[in-house]
Amino acid sequence: MSSPKSSQNFDPSYHADSVRRVTSLVKQMSPPSATSFTAEVVPQAPEDPLFGLMRAYKADQDPKKVDLGIGAYRDDNAKPWVLPVVKKADEILRNDPELNHEYAPIAGIPSFTGKAAELILGGTDSPAIKEKRVTSVQTISGTGAVHLGALFLAKFYPGTKKVYLSNPTWANHNQIFSNVGVPIATYPYFSKETKGLDFKGMKEAIYGAPDRSIILLHACAHNPTGVDPTMDQWKELAEVIRAKGHIPFFDTAYQGFATGSLSQDNAAVRYFVEQGFELLVAQSFAKNFGLYGERAGCFHVVTGPGPEAQTTIGRIASQLAILQRSEISNPPLYGARIASTVLNDPKLYAEWEDNLRTMSGRIITMRKELRSKLEALGTPGTWNHITDQIGMFSFTGLTEAQVLKIREESHIYMTKNGRISMAGLNTGNVDYVAKAIDKVVREVQ
Ligand SMILES: Cc1ncc(COP(=O)(O)O)c(C=O)c1O
Repeated sequence: MSSPKSSQNFDPSYHADSVRRVTSLVKQMSPPSATSFTAEVVPQAPEDPLFGLMRAYKADQDPKKVDLGIGAYRDDNAKPWVLPVVKKADEILRNDPELNHEYAPIAGIPSFTGKAAELILGGTDSPAIKEKRVTSVQTISGTGAVHLGALFLAKFYPGTKKVYLSNPTWANHNQIFSNVGVPIATYPYFSKETKGLDFKGMKEAIYGAPDRSIILLHACAHNPTGVDPTMDQWKELAEVIRAKGHIPFFDTAYQGFATGSLSQDNAAVRYFVEQGFELLVAQSFAKNFGLYGERAGCFHVVTGPGPEAQTTIGRIASQLAILQRSEISNPPLYGARIASTVLNDPKLYAEWEDNLRTMSGRIITMRKELRSKLEALGTPGTWNHITDQIGMFSFTGLTEAQVLKIREESHIYMTKNGRISMAGLNTGNVDYVAKAIDKVVREVQ
């Protein structure tokens, strides 16, 4: 059988057709384009400044180098400190023959979340706890708690969907709220002149925000400034927030770590709860338990008092469970188990309080040392803010140019805004750091 298009009666149009078909087949068989995520659609993101700083510090070979960047506690030998009470809880858990590795419930372990709520809301006497109008969800540390809160607000908050953040704030607040599509605005917070709180600016901005906005507040030991409102100022803020119908969202990452007293460090949250506010709380156990890597945290919603409060909180809890399920399914167990072991045992709890006083006490001592050394050197400027500020961080007032020079010349690492982690100071380096600050302040304006 001969082909209908044999060489004797060659048809060029048929030939062209075959070539087209073959080319198209070859095209179909060629490997797919290597990426849809070209630089136009996925541009290179800048490195997280804090982790970039950490990398630069690690690479620095100078023996005198000092890390004042990272927000993690260090002991007087500049080493991470495993809290003795955490070691004990860890021992108890490891020797528990009943311990298994099943999934935690979606909302986390109740023995942990219940005690976490008591811790921040002021114990079983808290009206929110007594009236059962709080719901708590175990989260991936404080970051996860802020995220879950932001996601919940993005989906369900019927008021003005705009969050007011302090200027400055923990940098991640911006990313977390933007990622869930909640627009961001800021309220003034830090006064460059006094290196303290710009209370007037803060209050006016919160008053000026559209009714029923979301106001994010640091419960204590503000990051990055170390500046907190006084109790009287908190009371005034509560009045403004109530007058405008705003919803407060407290972020608490330093309870007990700031003053050494758990009840002093939750005073603002307790006050708002006593005043009957509906509010949100993101709670981290990273700093106060030294459980940075275990990611133990909690998100709480407290609804206002009233006959419907328990039904309201039940509905909120049901939706939070769905959000949690779609994001992480079940929270991680180990850190929460450690915290829960301590929080539920009066003896271990007392020991934890003692450990907290050790950490906060060392930091307070370093504040005093640094200030007195700078004052003794006659370093230009005032340095009372170093001891006035509280918690892990201090906003030194050093300019970006001074920060870069002190890094280059003295191998002292801090963030560009002049924030130092007080935990990076110790008896072995505080003198060196004071002298380096003195030098740079004199040399660079
Ligand atoms: C203000 C603030 N919120 C939340 C966090 C959350 O930290 P983590 O996710 O490690 O608990 C931090 C940690 O630095 C913080 O400073």
